[in-house]
Amino acid sequence: MGVVDEVKERIDVVEFISSYVPLKKAGRTYKGLCPFHAEKTPSFVVFPHTQTWHCFGACGTGGDVFSFLMQREGLSFSEALEQLARRAGVALTPPTAESEATNKRREKLLEMHATAARYFHHLLCQSAEGAVAKAYLAERSIDSQTVERFQLGYALDAWDGLKSHLLDRGYSEAEQLEGGLLVSKEESGRSYDRFRHRLIVPIRDRQGRVIAFGARVLKADDVPKYLNSPQTPLFDKGRTLFGLDMAKQAIREADQAVIVEGYMDVLSAHQQGHSNVVAGMGTALTEEQLRQVKRLTKHFVLALDADTAGSEAALRGISTARQALDRSVEPVPTSQGLVLTEGRPDVDIRIATLPAGCDPDDILRETPEEWPGIVDQALPVVSFHMQAVAAQHDLETARGKSELVRAVSPLLREISDPVERAYYVDQLARLVKVDERVLLADLERPPAAPRRPAPGGAAGPVITQEERDAFGPEEYLLASILRDPGALVAAGEELTRLDCPGVSAADFRDTLNRQLFLMVSKPEGAVAQADPVLQSHLDFLRERGERPPVLSPHLLPAELVSRVLRLRDQILHEKLTDPRLVQREADETGDRQESVRYQSLVDSTRRRLGIVQQAIHKRSTTGRRREQEEREGLVRV
Ligand code: UTP
Ligand code: MN
Repeated sequence: MGVVDEVKERIDVVEFISSYVPLKKAGRTYKGLCPFHAEKTPSFVVFPHTQTWHCFGACGTGGDVFSFLMQREGLSFSEALEQLARRAGVALTPPTAESEATNKRREKLLEMHATAARYFHHLLCQSAEGAVAKAYLAERSIDSQTVERFQLGYALDAWDGLKSHLLDRGYSEAEQLEGGLLVSKEESGRSYDRFRHRLIVPIRDRQGRVIAFGARVLKADDVPKYLNSPQTPLFDKGRTLFGLDMAKQAIREADQAVIVEGYMDVLSAHQQGHSNVVAGMGTALTEEQLRQVKRLTKHFVLALDADTAGSEAALRGISTARQALDRSVEPVPTSQGLVLTEGRPDVDIRIATLPAGCDPDDILRETPEEWPGIVDQALPVVSFHMQAVAAQHDLETARGKSELVRAVSPLLREISDPVERAYYVDQLARLVKVDERVLLADLERPPAAPRRPAPGGAAGPVITQEERDAFGPEEYLLASILRDPGALVAAGEELTRLDCPGVSAADFRDTLNRQLFLMVSKPEGAVAQADPVLQSHLDFLRERGERPPVLSPHLLPAELVSRVLRLRDQILHEKLTDPRLVQREADETGDRQESVRYQSLVDSTRRRLGIVQQAIHKRSTTGRRREQEEREGLVRV
């Protein structure tokens, strides 16, 4: 049994979910208010017999204990696995001496950071030396509750304040160096405190563990203004968002994340009750940072400083944001190539315009009542960009107009949704007072080169019939996709002809398979960073996929379609059971309205099932004909 199954066997989904959502027994199921959307009547149901959950209300999502934790805490699959495995007492990988040593070292670094944070905090709150930092915070209107919540601190004006404190507590000089808390002088080989006479802002990971520090000068002219921990085994600034541990819940509740530039902006926002605010680390936002937030909401507002650096960062942020977020999570096969994601952005990124010379902290301190309006009036990325560029050009001159068009065109070209694009072209046309047909002609993009492999290439090794039986249909599908992504594209085309959606993560019930599908359908590179559990599953599937051929490549797409349809048939049948179960319960308690609601769910599932069964039927006739043709030698590869 794999670790995922082992974890599932040991953790009871009802018990687990109960620790997040109060559940009430209702017949054979448990019900509660859905934690993923606001509702007054419970439509969140947990099924003990299948160990699954489902929201029959607005969000309509469901899954197992993994998907619950991932959604609830905004975790990646690996992170959820790590937490659940720990809880279940399941070892993720047979611990090697090496991995145990690494884990121990990590744990120790984390403890050391926690100790250091307590030390700095204590100095700020209790020591005479900390008074200067306290006064500074008061001057910036940071109250004591914020100081406590963020565990702000003060580093002494000394070379070995933290160093000797940590040495006393059993953290060696080498460990302190590794954690970036000390710096070593090359000439003398001696080491001293990195942070001296500074305000300390602990930086935490998503689970709230201190992994680094940001340290601000207390005098206006000292440089650098902020000194941060360097890259360490715990801290990678490109993967960290300041405040995310404190903001997770609020982001989900507000269904919106506000991203600012500075630590201070976050402190002020949270202090003012706007807890859905996080900050980057003083560099352009990375895909990874945005992806972490995307698990919590699809609505982003970038509230960046109004100065030039701010708007430059905003533009950099935009291009990252578009790259990272304009892809839908649900991969679909397209006629153009591999498993690309749908062109339509599934996230809404807006840029807030701050009054000139202001950063969010200024607003939140001086005129906090303006903050909600500023966030609400944030402009869609393209409009913001157009305005920002327009402000730099004289639109009365032909030159200014053409420069604006040139600057904005690349962004417009990226918009794949024709309606959305037309909207912005119209906006641009008004801005430069040029006929939009002229602009449209300018924007015509060259057709993308097809990436689909040429048909009739060398016959790759294919899975044998025997293995196909030993192998579940989901695994078969995945292994085939891994070996021949082109087959998936072709399968997608056929599914479309059958009025069915393309292959998606929803076609996989198994947790690992589903995660793996999501991973392999991402652009190149993602696969290389698989966590060990996914990686070994991937290796297994790849290995299986390379076994000697029996099925010729041109038959593979058709085979995939059969598999997918059969899987859907099964899944939809199962899906019929769940609402029926809940409906029966409603009938017994005489809740007519509930009963009708579940009936309509049953009906819509039936309709979907009907389409699948019809497709299966249609194919069985054409399929048989094709097989016959092949036997008669009519079809050549
Ligand atoms: P800001 O200068 O906007 O930060 O830099 P801030 O938080 O508003 O600072 P205050 O209000 O003057 O105290 C934005 C972010 O850039 C990084 C920090 O992460 C900071 O929060 N930064 C800035 C540095 O890492 N080093 C610096 O010297 C300056
Ligand atoms: Mn500031």
